[in-house]
Amino acid sequence: MSQDSPVEQGRDGRRTVPVIEISELRKTYGTGEAAVEAIRGLDLVVEEGEFLSVMAPSGSGKSTLMHIIGCLDTPTSGRYRLAGRDVSNLDEAELARIRNRYIGFVFQQFHLLRHLTAVSNVELPLVYAGLNPTDRRVRAIEALRRVGLADRMHHRPTQLSGGQQQRVAIARALVTDPTVILADEPTGNLDSASSEEVLGWFGEFHRAGRTVVLITHEPDVAKVASRVVRMRDGVVVGDGPPELIFVGTGTTFAGATLTEQPQDGSEPSGGSAGHR
Ligand SMILES: Nc1ncnc2c1ncn2[C@@H]1O[C@H](COP(=O)(O)OP(=O)(O)OP(=O)(O)O)[C@@H](O)[C@H]1O
Ligand SMILES: [Mg+2]
Repeated sequence: MSQDSPVEQGRDGRRTVPVIEISELRKTYGTGEAAVEAIRGLDLVVEEGEFLSVMAPSGSGKSTLMHIIGCLDTPTSGRYRLAGRDVSNLDEAELARIRNRYIGFVFQQFHLLRHLTAVSNVELPLVYAGLNPTDRRVRAIEALRRVGLADRMHHRPTQLSGGQQQRVAIARALVTDPTVILADEPTGNLDSASSEEVLGWFGEFHRAGRTVVLITHEPDVAKVASRVVRMRDGVVVGDGPPELIFVGTGTTFAGATLTEQPQDGSEPSGGSAGHR
């Protein structure tokens, strides 16, 4: 396969195709009576520069979808195009290469290596990308500086607060200049002040023109995005701007009163507005 074909454009030229294009996606774990259909025919298109949150109750297939979008796993059937390239059926080595090049991950559990300093953790994706040590260090320091942590670069994860650890993880996600920043419950282990700060960084990246996909079960987190996709039982049941998605739930968009969102995942009225 040719290198990174077919669609490669710099940040200056807009992509002519969506960053993420998923159609009729299905993912089934196991077989026979033990089979679990985690994703059941899901369609999703994300354009470059969008800030999207995927919101659903526990067990609805959010992490399964994240794993597929992030090329950590492949679908059972259906099609997934990432930056114009069909990645539905790649082998593990190809997936790893695509992942490193296109995706910046942020996880609930931070997933930092405990024995490495902040700057070494941030450098890791660049090691896999084959950069030389000097360039790696320069870029890792710059990424830490961007999340306000340059003064903590020689600290190890245990010497940092939860919010600071997640900022290191965000710097690590950014350092390769990925096409998509993909975050799964990034505030799940943070107090409210740190959560707000971390979500603020995602907003910042969005304003800088990056594509951000934020996966969460919390309406208060989902509403920071400019587009909310609601999932239930492995399919999309609502898609639109937060002020539309949260209408009719007894909640307001502007205030922090979204906790009345139905916890059973039932669809609020007026929740479907096409994909933009
Ligand atoms: N490796 C696996 N093997 C079998 N079933 C799985 C596997 N991973 C997930 N599932 C099942 O698939 C469904 C979707 O799981 P998934 O982890 O994607 O949900 P989620 O929306 O991320 O939930 P949560 O909010 O609790 O993280 C669940 O019923 C889950 O039990
Ligand atoms: Mg999950």
